Amino acid sequence: MIIHSPQPWGDFAGEERFFEGNLEAWRALEEAYNAGKIRAIGVSNFEQADLANLLNNASIKPMLNQVLAHISNTPFDLIEYCESKGILVEAYSPVAHGKILDHKEIAEMAAKYGVSVPQLSIRYCLELGLLPLPKTANPDHMRTNAAVDFEISAADMDVLKSIDRIKDYGDANMFPVYGAKL
Ligand SMILES: NC(=O)c1ccc[n+]([C@@H]2O[C@H](COP(=O)([O-])OP(=O)(O)OC[C@H]3O[C@@H](n4cnc5c(N)ncnc54)[C@H](OP(=O)(O)O)[C@@H]3O)[C@@H](O)[C@H]2O)c1
Repeated sequence: MIIHSPQPWGDFAGEERFFEGNLEAWRALEEAYNAGKIRAIGVSNFEQADLANLLNNASIKPMLNQVLAHISNTPFDLIEYCESKGILVEAYSPVAHGKILDHKEIAEMAAKYGVSVPQLSIRYCLELGLLPLPKTANPDHMRTNAAVDFEISAADMDVLKSIDRIKDYGDANMFPVYGAKL
């Protein structure tokens, strides 16, 4: 079970970090965890300061931080911080909410490996040590999204890491996590 966001949706990415509220919500998760009601507890959309608030004041550290991470938009500093604290990073929208399917450069690299753009995108997350969380309503996509037993070379990972950020998530722009405010 995770805390979806350190802030109310309408204040997403604002300056107020709601440290006290997060500690209270976290205490509730800790109680449920200690009572054996849930098997793992974590957070989502937490930045370094939000994590530090829990790490400095709580008794159980978050087991996982679920954040937006995909080719062209990867929070490398936050990932490094989480790794240094032993917190698994789960990459939501690893296929960029479907917005990288027709990206020319990524498509060319996928073709080079003989895989689809979603497969390359999911493998990219795995190479970074992240836990990818793709979504699909299509059973064929589900099968191929799980078939990612190949390796992306270090040189190609460097190329993928430096691809310009996708800023337009189409209809999903209305959701604060994709960059726009509600
Ligand atoms: N914690 C948070 O704040 C937060 C925010 C956003 C999302 N999430 C979670 O993250 C998960 C994934 O989010 P997302 O929907 O943005 O995921 P995503 O996997 O990046 O994008 C899903 C889109 O990609 C398409 N797709 C996936 N695999 C494909 C394939 N092999 N070929 C062609 N199209 C493919 C899907 O269409 P088809 O259905 O047609 O395959 C769908 O349109 C969800 O469980 C969501 O709840 C969490």
